[in-house]
Amino acid sequence: MKILFIGDVTGSPGREMVKTYLPKLKEKYRPNMTIINGENAAAGKGITQKVYKQLLEWGAHVITMGNHTWDKKEIFEFIDDANNLIRPANFPEDTPGKGITFININGTEAAVINVQGRTFLPAIDDPFRKMDELIEAAKKRTNIIFVDFHAEATSEKQALGWYLDGKVSAVAGTHTHIQTADERILPNGTAYITDVGMTGPYDAILGTERETVIKKFLTGLPVRFEIDTKGRAQLNGLLITVDEKTGSALNIERILVNDDHPFII
Ligand SMILES: [Fe+2]
Ligand SMILES: [Fe+2]
Repeated sequence: MKILFIGDVTGSPGREMVKTYLPKLKEKYRPNMTIINGENAAAGKGITQKVYKQLLEWGAHVITMGNHTWDKKEIFEFIDDANNLIRPANFPEDTPGKGITFININGTEAAVINVQGRTFLPAIDDPFRKMDELIEAAKKRTNIIFVDFHAEATSEKQALGWYLDGKVSAVAGTHTHIQTADERILPNGTAYITDVGMTGPYDAILGTERETVIKKFLTGLPVRFEIDTKGRAQLNGLLITVDEKTGSALNIERILVNDDHPFII
């Protein structure tokens, strides 16, 4: 099974990149399942029902989230009915939504899990022990388990990758918006990358207009961060091939589409 994962889709430039390039990526790589991190998909903060539905229409099977899950208030109105939307599973008990979902691809089931780190991020439940619980439940149904680990610290991301090596198909990092070049298959068969990167503004700072971010660093004064909707855009993603029986990763490939790395068919 081939799994395509697209990193943090940010604002309208990110959505436009998905709309334009997802069909081309599907044609080129022929993924069986597409997962998109959508925590910044609505104007850079959170997701709306309209954007969620759009991303599914354009070809995503699952949308994962992160620390921006609750930024758009309307999420509370639709998250419990959004079967293909998952938020970090280690948010406190009784939080709306869910952190794991199962997708059936032509009779083969796959689990997708979203967890969030807690180093330099809000204090939430332990992602490591939450993963133990979720893997036990998931293994009753499938060996194919994809994990979006939304975290800031590279150490915490590497630690979860190694901790889960041989237990899941992939641990793919999100949140920093910067793609790392450390993609590999760990010795026991788990595909790993510290961060997939982001999909959205290219000549900006993590998606935000660079002038305002630079001003913030220069002066420390409060500034209003806006998504850069005027500049060029990029798409960052990952393609993983998984052995359907064992759940082990067979291949991992980074995807980068921007004016410096043009898309080649
Ligand atoms: Fe993000
Ligand atoms: Fe994030």
